[in-house]
Amino acid sequence: MPENSNPKKILIIGSGGREHAIGWKFKQDAAHSNYECELFFIPGNAGTAQIGTNVSVKSLNEMCDFAKENQIDLTFVGPEAELAEGIVDLFKSEGLEIFGPDKRAAQLESSKAFAKDFMAKYNVKTAKYKTFNGPMLAIEYLESQEFPIVVKASGLAAGKGVVICRDFEEAKKAVLDIMENKAFGEAGSQVVIEEYLEGFEASILSFFNGNEIVPFVSAKDHKKIGEGETGLNTGGMGVMAPNPLFIKSHFDEFSKEIMQTTLNGLIAEGMNFSGVIFFGLMISQKGVYLLEYNLRMGDPETQVCLPLLENDLFETVMKSNRGEHFELKFSDQHACCVVMVSGGYPLNYEKGFEIRGIENLDCPYFVAGAKEKDGKMLTSGGRVLNIVGIGNSLEEARNQAYENIVKVHFDYQYYRKDIGLV
Ligand code: AMP
Ligand code: GLY
Repeated sequence: MPENSNPKKILIIGSGGREHAIGWKFKQDAAHSNYECELFFIPGNAGTAQIGTNVSVKSLNEMCDFAKENQIDLTFVGPEAELAEGIVDLFKSEGLEIFGPDKRAAQLESSKAFAKDFMAKYNVKTAKYKTFNGPMLAIEYLESQEFPIVVKASGLAAGKGVVICRDFEEAKKAVLDIMENKAFGEAGSQVVIEEYLEGFEASILSFFNGNEIVPFVSAKDHKKIGEGETGLNTGGMGVMAPNPLFIKSHFDEFSKEIMQTTLNGLIAEGMNFSGVIFFGLMISQKGVYLLEYNLRMGDPETQVCLPLLENDLFETVMKSNRGEHFELKFSDQHACCVVMVSGGYPLNYEKGFEIRGIENLDCPYFVAGAKEKDGKMLTSGGRVLNIVGIGNSLEEARNQAYENIVKVHFDYQYYRKDIGLV
C-alpha cells in the first residue's frame, strides 16, 4: 500500500521508451492498489501524453520551478545527462523529493576514468585499464599492448564512445579520433584504454538506498542493428528478462566480487544517495567482470524489468529515499521487448511517418520516438516503438511480442526477427 491516500504527483524526466515504461508502472501500481496518481513528463513523447501531461521546459532551474509550483511528490530522472548536470543536488537544495544520484556520484557514469579508479580502489572486478589525458602517451602505451584492445572516451557519449580495436593502427586512429578530432566532443578529453574481454553481456539494474544495493532480475539486450548480432551498434534493438545465460553461479560471483565491493566503496566514499545503479557486466571464461556503471535505469532494460516487478514503485522509491530496507520481488514470468526502428537507423533515417494499428496491440508497448500531430502518432526518432511480450517462458514472451508487432505499421519500419533467441 502507498504512503497515504492523497493523489501522488510524479514528475518523470526524459522522452523515451524507458520513461514511458516508468510512467506505465506507476499507473499500473496505482490502479492495482486503488490510489490516484498524476504523471508529468519533461519533455515526454506521444506515448507518455496518453498517460500523463507532457511539459516543455528545458533548464534544470525551470524543471525545479515546475516541481515546486505543481507540488510534485516525487521526481524520477530517466537519462544520465540531467544527473551529471546536478538535477538531484538542485532539487534537494529546494527540499524536493527526487530519486537519483547527486552530481558527484553520477560521475560513476559520466566519467569512465572516475569509475575505473573507483573500481580499482575498491577491488570491483573489472578489465585492466589505463587512463590518458593526451594522445601521445596513449599511443606510446598502445605500442606495447596486445590486441584486440578497447579505447573509450571517458565522458558521456550517448553510448557511442567505445571502440573495439583489432590492431595497433585501429587503436591509434581511435585515440586520434577521440582526442584530436573530438569525435565525441569534450567526452574525449580523457581516454581509457582497456583490456578486451570476450564473453556474453548481462545487465543488472538495482536500487541503492544509501546502505544496501537491492538487485533486479537480470536482463540481456541486443545492441547490434542486424540479426545474429551483426552490423552497427545501436541504443538497443531488443531485450529480455531474465537473461537466460546468467545463471545462479554468475549471480553469486557478481554479488560477491562486484555488488558487495561496490557497496563498500560507496560507503567508504560517503556516496550516500538513493537511486539506481545499473551494472553492465561481461561474463568471460575468467569470470564475471564489470564493464560499466550507469546511474539510471537502462533503456531498453527498463521496458522488460518493470513489467516483472511486483513491488509498488512509488512506495519502494520513497522507502529508498528514506534509507529504509526493502526487498524487490519479481514475478517468475519472462519478458521480451522488440524495438521497432526507422529504416536507416542508427545512421540517417527519415521521420514523420504515421504509426498505424497501435490500438490493436494486445500487450504492453512503449513509445520511444513519436510525437502527436492532429490526432495522429508520427515517428520522430530512430527508435520508435517497444513491443513487450510477457509469458511463462521466454518462448511464450517472444511469441507474444512477435504476434503483436505485425499489428503495427509505419513506412520504412525495421525490427530484428531474432530478439529473444539466445
Ligand atoms: P560501455 O559503455 O563501457 O559499457 O561499453 C559499451 C559496449 O562496448 C559494451 O556493452 C560492450 O559490448 C563493449 N565493451 C566495453 N568494454 C569492453 C571490454 N573491455 N571488452 C569487450 N567489450 C567491451
Ligand atoms: N541499454 C544500455 C543502456 O541503457 O545504457
